[in-house]
Amino acid sequence: MHTTLVLGGYGFFGSRICQALASNKQIYLLIGGRDGAQAQALASKLCLKPDQGLAIDAYAPDLAERLVALNVDTVIHTAGPFQGQDYTVARAAIAAGANYIDLADGRDFVSGIEQLDILARTRGVFVSSGASSLPALSSAVVDRYLSRFRQLTSITHGIGSGARAPGLATMRGVFSYCGKPFSWLKAGSWQTTHGWLNLKRYRFPSPVGTRLLGSCDVPDLVLFPRRYQGVHTVAFHAGFAGTLGHLFVWFGAQLVRLRIMPSLTPLAAPLHAISQWLEPFVSDKGGMFVSLEGIGIDGQPLKLNWHLVAAQNHGPYIPCGASIALALKLARGEKLPHGAMPCMGLLTVEDYLAALQGFDVHELPA
Ligand SMILES: NC(=O)c1ccc[n+]([C@@H]2O[C@H](COP(=O)([O-])OP(=O)(O)OC[C@H]3O[C@@H](n4cnc5c(N)ncnc54)[C@H](OP(=O)(O)O)[C@@H]3O)[C@@H](O)[C@H]2O)c1
Repeated sequence: MHTTLVLGGYGFFGSRICQALASNKQIYLLIGGRDGAQAQALASKLCLKPDQGLAIDAYAPDLAERLVALNVDTVIHTAGPFQGQDYTVARAAIAAGANYIDLADGRDFVSGIEQLDILARTRGVFVSSGASSLPALSSAVVDRYLSRFRQLTSITHGIGSGARAPGLATMRGVFSYCGKPFSWLKAGSWQTTHGWLNLKRYRFPSPVGTRLLGSCDVPDLVLFPRRYQGVHTVAFHAGFAGTLGHLFVWFGAQLVRLRIMPSLTPLAAPLHAISQWLEPFVSDKGGMFVSLEGIGIDGQPLKLNWHLVAAQNHGPYIPCGASIALALKLARGEKLPHGAMPCMGLLTVEDYLAALQGFDVHELPA
């Protein structure tokens, strides 16, 4: 049995990951969070033993000792927000000789994970950051189509979410950069833009339809120019399912950009509550796109558009696909590289989507 601890295991994404791993015969699942009662409640809901739900603080000074005592083989860290977090949890996992996977979407956090590479290699463990829609799935899509380009020049991608609001950690992470400046590569030069601005419309395939999207500060903005040589434009946009909600946050981001408000982070909790009340009135459909442009193998301009569409509010399972797929590989004893790396080149699109089987999530290949 491969003991897998999900930190933040009863959170929005953590609970979906636990749901996927709970019945696997090769995995002994531990559900961790600061509230032991909530962890145990989920353990019993998933037909696990009560002691498989436990109170554990990701930032407790004795985390490494706890991981050793619990015989943890792999830690899945979902206890965000990751923006501004350090590598305490990853370091504790490495010290305990456990593999480490996180769902981070913080640009610096994911791109900086390589600083733990020597430590992880020395200890002989697998450490990967960003095992989620970005950059795990987004890079898998680019990798799949790369051979169709003589020169790939532009990667623009985005997500239009459905009605079901993600957890507070995700909202806090996104709101932390609303209206704040960040850089992205546009036509070969690093330019400054601002979180949740650059309002644009994107037409997703049916049944999602047209959505408003805003610019987001994500790991792909720095990882893709490094990974795909010759790419001169990388941009990512995301948007809420409800137009009014999206415009409200866009307006707030403008206030932050103009320094009328210092930050939208204090609004994350109240807006999270409001979005839960509004869920029945908003579309349950969501989608992701990856658009690739460049010169094709035949020397002609080439543009490819890849889509993923989700209905029945199943979109929130998508960010869980990478950690589920990696945890299953580790439990099966498949070799994953020792060292620390952003989650790219480790999963194919097929690996990723296999972890989402049974959900109303469908790929529309380019
Ligand atoms: N890369 C991507 O594409 C992508 C996409 C979506 C989401 N994400 C990431 O997923 C993360 C999780 O989001 P979510 O929506 O699931 O958030 P959430 O519902 O707020 O879940 C966070 C969980 O972490 C637990 N937690 C917080 N601090 C902790 C600590 N010190 N020790 C142990 N547990 C702790 C929380 O429980 P307690 O407070 O009770 O401890 C909660 O269960 C976000 O931070 C976001 O960055 C990434």
